[in-house]
This record gives sequence, C-alpha cells and structure tokens, in this order.
Amino acid sequence: MTRLRSTPGETARRGFIETYDSVPGGVWFAPGRINVIGEHTDYNDGFVLPFALDRGVATAAALSNHGRVDLVSEQFGPKSFALEELSRGGPGLGHGGAAVWAAINSGMEIPGLNLYVSSTVPAGAGLSSSSAFICALLVAANDLTGSGLDAPTLAMSAQRAETEGVGVPIGVMDPMVTMLSKQGHALLLDCESLRYEHVPFRATTPGADTEILIVDTRTERNLATGQYGERRGDCQRAVSLLGLSSLRAASTSLLEEMSGLLDEMSLRRARHVVTENARVLEVVKRLREDDMAGIGKLLDDSHRSLVEDFDVSSPTLDLAVEVCRDAGAYGARLTGAGFAGCVIGLFPSGSLPVVDAAAKKAFSAREMRQPEVLLGYSGPAAGQLVG
Ligand code: GLA
Repeated sequence: MTRLRSTPGETARRGFIETYDSVPGGVWFAPGRINVIGEHTDYNDGFVLPFALDRGVATAAALSNHGRVDLVSEQFGPKSFALEELSRGGPGLGHGGAAVWAAINSGMEIPGLNLYVSSTVPAGAGLSSSSAFICALLVAANDLTGSGLDAPTLAMSAQRAETEGVGVPIGVMDPMVTMLSKQGHALLLDCESLRYEHVPFRATTPGADTEILIVDTRTERNLATGQYGERRGDCQRAVSLLGLSSLRAASTSLLEEMSGLLDEMSLRRARHVVTENARVLEVVKRLREDDMAGIGKLLDDSHRSLVEDFDVSSPTLDLAVEVCRDAGAYGARLTGAGFAGCVIGLFPSGSLPVVDAAAKKAFSAREMRQPEVLLGYSGPAAGQLVG
C-alpha cells in the first residue's frame, strides 16, 4: 500500500547538480492525471472530466550555449540530441526530443538545454506519465527563454509533440489538464471549443469524507502499438457513415434513427461516445448536488460501456473493478485509454487498507502480478517549483 509521495523536485535538483556540476536555473513540475469520466471522447470533440494528480514529473533545467539538449532521466538514463537534428522534427524523436522540437516550433529560442528529470508517475499505467514529461520540459523551456506562452498554447504544443514528434495520436485531454488544473477540482473540458471550467471535487483532497482510490494493475500498455489508433479509426468511420462533422453532433435518438447506415461495430463505438458525453455532464451535475451514489452509478455505467461498446477493457481491469465494487465502492471504472493500466473507484474515506488487501488477495488467487493501490489526491497545474 502506498501513499502518494510529494513532488520529485528535490531529486531532480540534486540529480542536476551531481550531473552538471552547477545549479539549475529552476525546477519545474508537471502532474500526471486521473480521468474521472469521459473516456475516448476527447478526440471525438466531446467532454472529459479529469483532474491532475499530486504526483508527476519534475525537471531541473538550465539553458546553455552548447547547441544540444542533454537530458538525464532518473528512470530512463541519459540522452543527448543536437538542436540542429531536432529542428528537422518527424516521428520517432522520443519524448524528450519531441518536447524540445515542439518548444522550438512554437517560437522558443533555445541555444542549448541541460535537464535532469525525475518522475513519480508509473510509466505506461494510464496516468499520463508521457504527457507530464513533455509538459514539464515545455514549461521549463517557456520560463527559461522568457517566451511567455500561456497554458492552453503550451498544452497544444505538448499534444503536437506527442502526436507528431513521438508518433502517438493522443487527444487534448492529458496536456490540457496538466497545464490547467486546479487543486481540489476536476476540469470539465469541452474538447470541441476548448472551453473549460474547474468543478470542485472534495474527494480529491485529504481529510474529505470520500476518496478516490487508484488500483494500478501494473499491466503496462503502449499506446503506440495500435489499438488506440484503431479505436480512433472506428470512430472516424462512424462519422463518415453518418455524414457528420464529428460524433459530438450525434445523439442517442439520431443513432437510433440512422442505425441502418452503420455496421454493428460502428454503432457500438458511436453509442459509447454519445452516452459517455452525456455521463460526463451528468457527473458534473451530481457533483454539484453532492450525490456520491449517483456518481458511482455513472462510473459503473461508463465501465460497462467501455467493455461492451468500446472493447478497451481487459480481464485484469475488469477484476480490479470487481474488487472495488465488492470492497464497497460507490462505483468504479477503468481510467485512461484502457487495454491495461489503472482503474479508479470512488469510496467512503478510509477504504484504502480494505481495498488493498482485497486486491492483493484476488490477484494472487489468479496468479496475477500484485496490484498497487494509491490514493488519488489532486495537485496543482504544471509550473515552476519554489524553494
Ligand atoms: C489516452 C489519450 C487521451 C484520451 C484517453 C482516452 O490517455 O492520451 O487523449 O484519448 O486515452 O480517453
């Protein structure tokens, strides 16, 4: 059982001093995220409701004149790129290279950069570790170069880094929540207009009567391997068959009327997106009414839709959801892209020991890798750490 640790800023600072034998220009932090609800809706111009975690990626950074990016990651080791090589862009740059490429592309003048990165978000678990990594580098470069780009612009830059530089076709949710979040709140984001609102969510703060638990099944997924792109393609196919601009323009009644135009799979994909958008708005309403039981039911419905209509769950994720429900969750669902990674459950406070024991027992009985249960507390948006 693990409580979320504080920021890894000190580790990054210490690592920088040991590596470069000089003090950094500052230390920046970008959080990972949990998506409360609104899965596979962002690239369909829909609604999402994520919040930024109190764990994430810290980077100690300084400009230099050597024409390179020297990057040491505590987890993944050292890398070095010539700026000239980076400015050519293209997929396959890796996250560090892609972040700096996007920074240069958005007008930042970087003569050279030294970076030391440390992370407290498990990689590949669906908690947006890669977006946090890219955002941490972008906010650092933005401040060090005095470029003054605002948070939404940096978020769009981070999305370009991942899409065009790394080659993973993600939506806007992860970088937007990393850049715009507010502690104690979830971020209601309209991915069509990019309008957003901070919705108070006290289960994300210590001392509340409810809590969000994250069950990390420690099964890693890699978005680059294709299934995520396939789902995007399925949605695009439904959009073409329906003759719409995006699935945002669809509704349950429209799908019923026009179901003859769709094959069975396209109908299921579209139905998930349409019903999930409605669930996001309904969760926001229930949050305002303080109706935890109502929110729990919507989380359960979301998971069912992701299993039956969107086909992105796995036996391990389903088991983790079942464990949460049996241990007294108001509701539970997979979070992030799916296929592997984490589930979240909304619980009365103090449930962590029970859920942790139940998850370990259920996973050992099936000879599965031991899961890890974490408290999902919210943290602030990406920015420079003080002190
Ligand atoms: C990944 C992507 C997001 C979003 C989710 C699914 O996390 O990075 O943009 O599409 O999957 O909701």
